[in-house]
Amino acid sequence: MNKYDKAEHYQRVLGQITAMLDGERDDVARMATVSAVLAGEFDYFYWTGFYRMQAGGLVIGPYQGTPGCLRIALDRGICGAAVRQGETLVVDNVHVFPGHIACDAKSRSEIVVPVWNAAGMLVAVLDIDSEQVGAFGDIDRLGLERIVAAVFACEETPCQNALD
Ligand code: SME
Repeated sequence: MNKYDKAEHYQRVLGQITAMLDGERDDVARMATVSAVLAGEFDYFYWTGFYRMQAGGLVIGPYQGTPGCLRIALDRGICGAAVRQGETLVVDNVHVFPGHIACDAKSRSEIVVPVWNAAGMLVAVLDIDSEQVGAFGDIDRLGLERIVAAVFACEETPCQNALD
């Protein structure tokens, strides 16, 4: 997929997800749908899912892929770093990232996108792994940040502000 096609594809997937989730308020339903659609639409996504903020750390949520680690402390891994920094992290080679948690040795690169709710609270992260080194770039970051904002940043889905 070239860069132009990839950006267009993210746009189509955003439309598909927001149409499927029209009016849905339940977070598990939202996370499960986002995971399933993303896993099916991008062939370089090896593991696609959510870790939810709970007291004291991250706990696994809906996902597609091989079994994920159940809990991640906030001082651990790429997911913990994304929460601490409050921004999307793209890691081209997870094996050289200090503190990376290897839930599956096949994961080579990773993107972790913080998820904020309508009240502005960081409630989860979207974590996507690839078997390819350097699989994720700016188009992925922007595409995934838009999807997460459209789905989670408003009480109602889709979030109109995020789609503007
Ligand atoms: N690699 C992640 C852990 C979660 S798995 O990728 C599913 C990390 O270091 O945060």
